[in-house]
Amino acid sequence: MPIVPTKQIVERAFTGGYGVAAINIVNDLTMDAVLAAAEELRAPLIVQTSVKTVKMTGADVLFAMWREMTKRVSVPVALHLDHCPDRAVISECLEKGWNSVLFDGSALSVEENKRQCIEIVAEARRFGALVEGEIEGIKRVEDMADDERLSEQKLETAVDFVTATGVDIFAPAIGNAHGMYTTTPKLDSARVSDIVSATGIPVALHGGTGMTAEQFKDLIARGCAKVNVSTALKIAFMQSGQDFMTEHPGEYDPPSIFKAQRAAVINMAKQYIGMFGSAGKAW
Ligand code: 13P
Repeated sequence: MPIVPTKQIVERAFTGGYGVAAINIVNDLTMDAVLAAAEELRAPLIVQTSVKTVKMTGADVLFAMWREMTKRVSVPVALHLDHCPDRAVISECLEKGWNSVLFDGSALSVEENKRQCIEIVAEARRFGALVEGEIEGIKRVEDMADDERLSEQKLETAVDFVTATGVDIFAPAIGNAHGMYTTTPKLDSARVSDIVSATGIPVALHGGTGMTAEQFKDLIARGCAKVNVSTALKIAFMQSGQDFMTEHPGEYDPPSIFKAQRAAVINMAKQYIGMFGSAGKAW
């Protein structure tokens, strides 16, 4: 059975000193491609869905795709709901069989975020699911100010949140952002070490697209056991489609374009998995 609890995948990565790739997919083709990349590299993998993707495809259809596609996979994989502020979507996905959720209460006060997160942890435990928590919104690259670290909460606040809620993994803001960085981001890596040593739980690294191999190596060694990648998949998927049409004008043959897109996404996923040190770590 390739589907295993997210907690098992993350804990093995945390104690084993590698990062597990957590890649956001957008449809059937991209789900199949990232699973194929993990299979090829014998790497454990977390497949992530945004709330947008869940709403666009429907949790039923998405989960049916997941159930069928993972039947032909032999490496450990888990399905995760990324950044979700909507309690109804969290409940729907947990009931369907998602293995973990990120409750995004970053727009709430820390107290209210904590109160709701405690309830979500209790709900998730009934399904054997992992909960990721966050108290600072991870911004988009274009919305980041130079003085972004000022928006970080105090270490004591983060530690209190983790302790009070019982979340399994924490996603801090460390100068990272979603999207494509215009320059190499300046990351507060010491904050990862501080959080890990104070809480004992792993950190989820967001905004993976465009970070350097050295940054991944350092942050994973400090305890970033789950590394999120989304924008890179969207670029690989869409750019390869555009390139195909440019190179084959007038060739309106869906299987041909899908083949090119699948290859591009597999290639992208393999590159990131390679940088995270999780290749060959399947059990
Ligand atoms: P990127 O889109 O920058 O890779 O970030 C992914 C992410 O953190 C998803 O939660």
